[in-house]
Amino acid sequence: MKTLAELFEHTLQDVYYAENALTKALPKVAKAAGDAKLKQAVEDHLKQTRGHIQTLKKVFASLNVPAKGEKCDAIEGLIKETDGIIKEASGKALNAGLLAAAQSVEHYEISRYGSLREWAKVLGHDEAHKLLSKILDEEKAANSKLTDLAVGGINKK
Ligand SMILES: [Fe+2]
Repeated sequence: MKTLAELFEHTLQDVYYAENALTKALPKVAKAAGDAKLKQAVEDHLKQTRGHIQTLKKVFASLNVPAKGEKCDAIEGLIKETDGIIKEASGKALNAGLLAAAQSVEHYEISRYGSLREWAKVLGHDEAHKLLSKILDEEKAANSKLTDLAVGGINKK
């Protein structure tokens, strides 16, 4: 990988892999959550993730490249960490731990989509820039909701 165009395409494949991996991991997190609001937030994230996969397919199509994923070590690590919390924590610590893990995932997504949409702009991919900005806004909104949950009581409980 030498050019920004190549980096852009590679990172797009990386988030495509990550969103697909999340659709498999999030149902386990929703099941483990012991708080109704947290469970709802995780289920909302799952629904949003499925939408992001569809939007990413449109991004690939706008670039005339096939939609495919490239193994992303960052999301694999975050999912592994979340699995560890499910196994090792219980009660109040489990909910606070799962909430923190969910925010780590959102922060990862926000950072990737932030880079991607700026690269799309620089590369002149206007349609991709628009679609990636839309995903970025949704990730930011999801992260704010999780912050509201955290300061709204889950951590104190
Ligand atoms: Fe997403």
